[in-house]
Amino acid sequence: MHPTAAVPGLSGPILSLPPTFRWGVATSAYQIEGAVAEDGRTPSIWDTFCRVPGAVADGDHADVACDHYHRMPQDVALIKDLGVDTYRFSVAWPRVQPHGRGPVNPRGMAFYDRLVDELLASGIDPWVTLYHWDLPQELEDAGGWPVRDTAYRFADYSMMVFDALSDRVDTWFTLNEPWCSAWLGYVSGDHAPGRKDFAAGMAAKHHLLLGHGLATRRMRAAAARDLQFGIALNLAAARPVTDTDLDRAAARRADGFSVRIYLDALRYGRYPDDVLADLADRDVTIPVHDGDLETISAPIDVLGVNFYFGQLFSGTDEAGNTTGPDGMPVVRDVPQDVPHTAMGWPITPDRFTELLLRLSQDYPDLPIVITENGAAFDDTADSAGFVRDEGRTEYLVDHIGAVALARQQGADIRGFFAWSLMDNFEWGYGYTQRFGIVRVDYDTQARTPKMSALWFRDTIRRIRER
Ligand code: FCB
Repeated sequence: MHPTAAVPGLSGPILSLPPTFRWGVATSAYQIEGAVAEDGRTPSIWDTFCRVPGAVADGDHADVACDHYHRMPQDVALIKDLGVDTYRFSVAWPRVQPHGRGPVNPRGMAFYDRLVDELLASGIDPWVTLYHWDLPQELEDAGGWPVRDTAYRFADYSMMVFDALSDRVDTWFTLNEPWCSAWLGYVSGDHAPGRKDFAAGMAAKHHLLLGHGLATRRMRAAAARDLQFGIALNLAAARPVTDTDLDRAAARRADGFSVRIYLDALRYGRYPDDVLADLADRDVTIPVHDGDLETISAPIDVLGVNFYFGQLFSGTDEAGNTTGPDGMPVVRDVPQDVPHTAMGWPITPDRFTELLLRLSQDYPDLPIVITENGAAFDDTADSAGFVRDEGRTEYLVDHIGAVALARQQGADIRGFFAWSLMDNFEWGYGYTQRFGIVRVDYDTQARTPKMSALWFRDTIRRIRER
């Protein structure tokens, strides 16, 4: 760690976090591992998508990324130095089950086996995410998530990982941000596999949730000890820009498609009536079979919340139209007059508190862990590779403060994971956006903790010591 960095002091609501609060850092397989063709791994939809001209900034891909596959022990040592108690990582499906069906690939699984052992030997709890967007390409070729069979393939794959690691891993997240997989992957086409088909996106969403339910049920039934199961969601904090009926309807639609369509199904075994009515207006139905919603609402023990920013919605476009070119009501994300990150995302910590309080009201009795929060800024490194990332540090101060505030007001929040451990492949943005609290020099693969990492480490230490 850089010895001379002055880091901001600890004050405000953060001080109210208990010494037992869980602290972690998060990553995902495709974003850091590299080694895409080693030890039997086959291409995922992201390997394919990266080769589509114009799909990813600078035509980049994650063939090497942070080379974590080869540098894993050093990276675990880095995590240990940060003083966190938990590491959230994802397993690459095409590494452990290269064809998306059929037998386990022992060489691929061995990597996660070693990772888990290394973490435990370093006193760090491993938290597994089973799916962080890297569907085996062969399954996409067979129809991908819009096809029901993919849910069953996911449950089989999950059991494979579970059988290999559940003697040592006690917290299991099925999916990371199914909204992104369904919407960005199959509706807007901004993410792999890059399809643009609204109905396919809704089918994908349902089959992702079905896969979650099937996997959760099977893992829980097979658990030989007390384990925790959950899912990590990105949930829009959607507010109307004004109090008009039109703007309120736009915010309701945004909330319906990003929060309630997931959480009403997961918690209450139903899709919201207003969302189903909106879908009917588009002549789209969700392909629900008997018993699906019961499967989807299999009990979970923890809700992972990934939060980056809150939004304001308007029911009119810039020209004042209330209907879009597709004949559907306008749902416009209105620019906000607040500071923004390098991603162009508004910085809205108060909306985080608001979302967490809303979740604990509408979906009570479900402990929450913040599985991702963080920010990209245009970092400048000094000659030693050190980044004085005041913007990122301030973002973390404000957002952890927002979490603490929600806790003080009654939300049951058990932990916070910074996104991300280190700079990595940021999907469609390639390497242009850096979210790490540790800098990665992609020429040398040197890792250097930034000021935000030092602040994070000191904050954790001080809270634990209180
Ligand atoms: C989340 C993703 C994560 C990362 C951050 C910035 O939506 O889960 O992989 O890209 O955004």
